[in-house]
Amino acid sequence: MSSKRAEFGSRLGVIAATVGSAVGLGNIWRFPYEAGTGGGAAFLLIYIVFVFVLGVPTICAEFSLGRFSRQGMPGAYSKTSGSRRWDFLGYASILAALMILAFYSVVAGWTLEYIIESVKSMFGDVDIADRHGAFTAFTGSWTAVVWTIVFLIINGLVMLGGVQKGIERVCNVLMPILFLILLAFSVNSLLMPGARQGLEFLFKPDFSALNAGVILSAMGQAFFSLSIGMGCMVTYASYFKDDTPLVRTSIEIAALDTLVAVMAGVIIFPAVFSFGMSPAEGPTLVFEVLPAIFHQMTGGPFWSLLFFVLLALASLTSIISVSEIVVTFLCDTLGWRRVKATVVLTLFTLVAATLCSLSFGPLRDLDLFNAFDFISSNILMPLCGLGVCVFVGWRMKRPEYEAQMRGRSRVPAWLFDTITFCLRYIAPVGILSVFIAGLM
Ligand code: PFF
Repeated sequence: MSSKRAEFGSRLGVIAATVGSAVGLGNIWRFPYEAGTGGGAAFLLIYIVFVFVLGVPTICAEFSLGRFSRQGMPGAYSKTSGSRRWDFLGYASILAALMILAFYSVVAGWTLEYIIESVKSMFGDVDIADRHGAFTAFTGSWTAVVWTIVFLIINGLVMLGGVQKGIERVCNVLMPILFLILLAFSVNSLLMPGARQGLEFLFKPDFSALNAGVILSAMGQAFFSLSIGMGCMVTYASYFKDDTPLVRTSIEIAALDTLVAVMAGVIIFPAVFSFGMSPAEGPTLVFEVLPAIFHQMTGGPFWSLLFFVLLALASLTSIISVSEIVVTFLCDTLGWRRVKATVVLTLFTLVAATLCSLSFGPLRDLDLFNAFDFISSNILMPLCGLGVCVFVGWRMKRPEYEAQMRGRSRVPAWLFDTITFCLRYIAPVGILSVFIAGLM
């Protein structure tokens, strides 16, 4: 009865799609403000440690689970363990995915408004006197809702194309463009008068800024940015070919994702210092501070357009991957056709995202935006991340895990042993501490 499961066509496609998932608002919008409020270089250093000590083993675990079972969530757990006892973790992942879709597409929608604003300012002056007021008024308006809907429809169209013709093809085109735009921006920033100060802030650690809170947010940021702890990498790996090298791919994702976060810092901090602003502005850094900076730069509207196109593209390849978690579930577990799954998910998300968007306006008291962000990032992602590490590290049969990790590629014994040790001991303890501290 089952037709052959879809597969990514090439290794480049695998990298484009998985890095496309990892690189998103998390790197370009969230990382700079987290690093900005967390003291810059000290935050970056801790962040990198988390990416490689906790992130890489967790990606490996998710990959092994997904490719071994050839199932998304929650089927990956039941197929691998032969019991339904672990399925709750899969359902928790799907819940997290639905919540992330709802609030993430709101921010993604904002990027479209800023693209239009940038084009407008090429042809006439845009009033920047009250940027904060304008931003607040926009985010609480129905215009923001419309942009969110537009974004979700674009996402739905890509999803209809399927894994190879939709996701892989779009990521193959968008990811190189994204890297080129980032490169152009980095060069531009390095030529600014505040470049030195910006780079010192990003690369010269001052450990006095470190405290437990900063360490915890660095860990949360690593999870969010690498798209782990919600079944995204499990789902994608269920479409990998048998010869895709899992360990190498995990390390490549971690390295490229970190590179983009660092590039975002290299782009943003020199600009912030050049124009006498504060790096610790918080979540509005990208949407309020940067447009003000662009406005003062030569060729500002052009750079602004380029930047928000970059942000929109990065958001799209990430939203696609979150949607795939749910679509794969609906197809694998409920036996739906892809078209039906995509349409139903899109309609559901339209409603949930509209409610989130209105959290900035009429539904301020309900504030679903922050509730969904908090529940998914601070509760469900750590819980599911912990679950996948414990399951793969302790419950999955060792030969099955080893066959996935080693496969036909040659992984040095020390590397395999180190990753497995981190997976079984370091990651569960580390994640559990974040979870507990996060709840407190
Ligand atoms: N990693 C994405 C980002 O940094 O923007 C966000 C994300 C995508 C989180 C996919 C979770 C996920 F499953």
